[in-house]
Amino acid sequence: MLSEEKATFVRAMFDRIAPRYDLMNAVMTLGQHQRCRRAAARLARPPRDGLALDLATGTGDFAAALREIEPTCRVIGIDFAMEMMRLGQTKYRNGVIFTQGDMLHLPLPDNLFDCAVNGFVLRNVADVRAAFAEMYRVLKPGGRAVSLEITSPRLPVWKNIFGIYFDHLMPRLGGWLSGQPDAYRYLPQSVREFYPPEQVVELMRGVGFRNVFFRWLMLGTMAVYVGTK
Ligand SMILES: C[S@@+](CC[C@H](N)C(=O)[O-])C[C@H]1O[C@@H](n2cnc3c(N)ncnc32)[C@H](O)[C@@H]1O
Repeated sequence: MLSEEKATFVRAMFDRIAPRYDLMNAVMTLGQHQRCRRAAARLARPPRDGLALDLATGTGDFAAALREIEPTCRVIGIDFAMEMMRLGQTKYRNGVIFTQGDMLHLPLPDNLFDCAVNGFVLRNVADVRAAFAEMYRVLKPGGRAVSLEITSPRLPVWKNIFGIYFDHLMPRLGGWLSGQPDAYRYLPQSVREFYPPEQVVELMRGVGFRNVFFRWLMLGTMAVYVGTK
């Protein structure tokens, strides 16, 4: 897909699934999704009275996880799907400022944020390198970037069990609960087509991040990537 085509497709899809997005996350992860965001938010180390950015904030859960870790930190959440953010605004009235924008072309100045995070979005952007380059640009020197993303687990046996669930059962369940079967067929496909974690680390290094590493979460079904500007 061309980059503009992909952006239009992704934005329209999230605007459509917004009303069921939070419910589907809870069902798909058996209620564990907020725990993963909290673990990732801790790695971002939001400082006291700092300023954080949550790219592709959606309904704001990752932004809120940063505020749980450090309640004095202000968080800007940016996304291009208004329906997702409208729900976020009703959930998190204080401390998160929601604003519309494209994470590949952030309407924000250089060197502004103490930390920048994104959750479950890298698979959805046309240019992952550009996403990291924008995170790097808006971070202060020494600031931390953290990305959380679904991955295909590698453990023998478990990877087959998870594959049956994620590639076959989850799309049916998601389609049924959300009324948007295409969106939940796209999800496993986008995970299959995404880079392996070692390559994501290289992409981060390539735009200038140092001390880059990743950790597996949820039995290798998610990975969290960390880098410092
Ligand atoms: C799977 S949701 C993740 C939402 C949130 N980060 C979370 O943890 O639940 C992906 C979000 O990325 C947003 N998105 C995808 N590409 C984007 C882009 N180029 N710029 C801004 N938002 C984008 C979508 O609109 C959607 O809200």
